[in-house]
Amino acid sequence: MAGGGDGPARGARVVLCPLPFQGHLSPMLHLAEALHARGVAVTVLHTAFNAPDPAHHPAGLAFVAVPDVIPEAVAATNNGIAKILALNAAMEASGHVRDALASLLAEEREPRLACLIFDSTLSAAQNAAAGLGLPTLVLQTGSAACFRLFRSDTYDMLHDRGYLPATESNLHMPVEELPPLQVRDLFDPSKLPNKEIVHKILSRATETTTNSSGAILNTFEALESHELAMIRDELAHKGIPPFAVGPLHKLVTSNDGGAETSLLNQDRSCIEWLDTQAPGSVLYVSFGSVVHVTQDEFMEMAWGLVNSSKPFLWVVRRGLVLGVDKQELPDGFMSAVEGRGKVIEWAPQQEVLAHPAVGGFWTHNGWNSTLESIYEGVPMLSRPIFGDQLPTGRYVRDIWRIGILLEGVLERGEVEKAIKKLMDEDEGVEIRRRAKDLKEKVRMCLDSSGSSQQAVDKHTYSDKFHLY
Ligand code: UDX
Repeated sequence: MAGGGDGPARGARVVLCPLPFQGHLSPMLHLAEALHARGVAVTVLHTAFNAPDPAHHPAGLAFVAVPDVIPEAVAATNNGIAKILALNAAMEASGHVRDALASLLAEEREPRLACLIFDSTLSAAQNAAAGLGLPTLVLQTGSAACFRLFRSDTYDMLHDRGYLPATESNLHMPVEELPPLQVRDLFDPSKLPNKEIVHKILSRATETTTNSSGAILNTFEALESHELAMIRDELAHKGIPPFAVGPLHKLVTSNDGGAETSLLNQDRSCIEWLDTQAPGSVLYVSFGSVVHVTQDEFMEMAWGLVNSSKPFLWVVRRGLVLGVDKQELPDGFMSAVEGRGKVIEWAPQQEVLAHPAVGGFWTHNGWNSTLESIYEGVPMLSRPIFGDQLPTGRYVRDIWRIGILLEGVLERGEVEKAIKKLMDEDEGVEIRRRAKDLKEKVRMCLDSSGSSQQAVDKHTYSDKFHLY
């Protein structure tokens, strides 16, 4: 792998355009740092909304903001797909992204602009690049399994073969074409009031890949070799190489720095608290930046944690509970867990997962959280809520076997049992051992000669992109 640091940029310049939500922004910024560390000149083209803080990145990274926003009426909803479509529409209408790309292309300085790397959901950015004759690479921030699943042809197949729409009687049916998935792991558009927008986003996800010169995936060979092999086959005849470069949050080695990409302030008091806890004893609980739970589910989580008698660190993010900004804890909760429970609004998650006191992660299986847990060898209690989280929860339990899957109605007795199983019982010991094995594998992929570093080198050095 090439080192680089802040040395002069050689070869080429690239523009990176992230989707401005935490789970998508972070991997793009980590990719920006990895390319920068290899001497590629990088400009991050981002919305002023949820803008990254340049002070958290090496001085050589350039940042350009566009003023596009999601209209207020859509931004106020919980509908993530509608937000993505509205942002794309705003970008198409304003032409700001196109103008910004055009002025970067028009600059007469070296190195020249070689391509746009964009989030797979931002078709507006790709369209702007296409209009200017600028090649694109698509960044898929989720798993390889979900890259194959969330395509319009896959969804056509799922409907044609009767898996979807899901019914009460077929929920447990295996999807033979997509093992280990069952019907209940599929994101079912028919459950949503506006099915058309789901079809729209699936078609766009397919098109953004087909119209790109290559696909960058935030996963690694040892984790999803089978899925990656199939993607390679499926894209080969279109001449689109896939590159598995993950986990992106650890692609830049610690010597090179590593970006702080959190959009919210992280409460570091939890690290001091973890320092007082026994090794491997604490369950870390966090459901990422966007999902919601109902008031009832929140109560079941709270009392399940109390009744488990295990130490825990719980992130109760503002807005976690549907319809409530700042959720109150139930009466008697804090006194019941005094000394063994800590509740905060937002954590330095990667540092928490790396802390020796943490022995388990109750997660919604957002892809970043999943990769961060895998990297630290922390076994999971999976409670996927929607979209890609559902298949990922199934992979955690059935393929990698590094966690327990909490399905069905959330109920305090089941929560208590699952926590004890993960943290104490024989099944938990085996799960922990496999999580540690996988940790060794991910670290090998990130070694200088490992598959993920090699994959970045391939596209930064390749004749096709001339990035270096
Ligand atoms: C969203 C989708 O919900 C998810 O399904 C998809 O895979 C990615 O986009 P999000 O729900 O926020 O993401 O989850 P996740 O992908 O896990 O990303 C959350 C990020 O926030 C992680 O990088 C995590 O380290 C960070 N985080 C989370 C914190 O820094 N502090 C916290 O307290 C919680």
